[in-house]
Amino acid sequence: MTTPTPTARLIDGVALSQKLRTEVTQRVQALKSRGITPGLAVILVGENPASQVYVRNKVKGCLDCGFHSVLEKYDADMTEAALLARIDALNRDPAIHGILVQLPVPKQIDANKVIEAISPLKDVDGFHMVSAGALMTGMPGFWPCTPYGCMKMLESIGYDLRGKHAVVIGRSNIVGKPMALMLLQKNATVTICHSATADLKAMTLQADVIVAAVGKRNVLTADMVKPGAVVLDVGMNRDEAGKLCGDVDFAGVKNVAGYITPVPGGVGPMTITMLLVNTLEAAERTAL
Ligand code: GUN
Repeated sequence: MTTPTPTARLIDGVALSQKLRTEVTQRVQALKSRGITPGLAVILVGENPASQVYVRNKVKGCLDCGFHSVLEKYDADMTEAALLARIDALNRDPAIHGILVQLPVPKQIDANKVIEAISPLKDVDGFHMVSAGALMTGMPGFWPCTPYGCMKMLESIGYDLRGKHAVVIGRSNIVGKPMALMLLQKNATVTICHSATADLKAMTLQADVIVAAVGKRNVLTADMVKPGAVVLDVGMNRDEAGKLCGDVDFAGVKNVAGYITPVPGGVGPMTITMLLVNTLEAAERTAL
C-alpha cells in the first residue's frame, strides 16, 4: 500500500488582501471624517514594463480603498536633480502622506540618493536608512511591504515562530534582510542563505519556514523541503512559456510542504496591501 501524498494548504494572498483592505477602507473612512484623506504619490521614471504593471496596481489599490492617489510619470532621461526636486516638493506637500519611487530607476539616477531624499515620515516603502534602523532596533517605523506581507501571511495561519528555524533565501535590502529581522523579532532562529552559501539544501532541509526571495526559478525544489514546512514564495519570474512563476517549484514542493503561497495570488497582492497599510498609518500619525 502506498501512503497518499499530502498536499500543502494554500495561503491565499488575494483573500487575505481583500480582508485587510476592507479594514483599511474602514480606517480611511474614519480618518476622512476627521478631515484627512490619506495620500500616496507614486513616481515612475522610464518605461520598464514590469514597473508599469506594479505602479498601475498600486494606484488601483489606493483608489479602491478611498485614498488620494497621485501618479507622476517621467521620461527615462529625467535628471537626478529633477527627481530630487520633485521628492523635495512632495516631502513638503501636506496632502501627501506616502512617497514611493518605483525601482529600478534609470542608470543616470542614484537609487540610494533617491531613497534617502524621501522624508522618513513618508517612507512607506520602508527603504530609508531611518526605517531600516527602526526595524533593526525594534523602534516604530515603516516596514518594507513585501516581508511585512509575508509576516501577515504567517499570522493568518496562526503560525507561532518562537523557537522555529526560518531560512531566508536571498539577502536584498528590500526583502531578504528585513525579512530575517522580522522573523527574528518573532523569536525564530534565522538563517540567511545567498549565492555564496555552500550547501543550500542542507540549510533548507532544517527549516520549519522557508522564504524564497532570489528572483530565479526553481531555487527551491521538493527534495530541499522538510515535510510540513511553511514555504513563502516571493519570486516573480516568467517560465519559458511566458507564464508568471515564483522561485519555488510549486508542483513539486506542494507535495511536501505543510503550507505554500502560490504565484500569482500569493505574496504579490500582499505587497500592495501593506503599502496601503503603511500609507494609512503615515496619515494616521499626522492626526495624532
Ligand atoms: N521595485 C520592485 N519592488 C519594489 C517595491 O516594493 N517598491 C519600489 N519602490 N520599487 C520596487
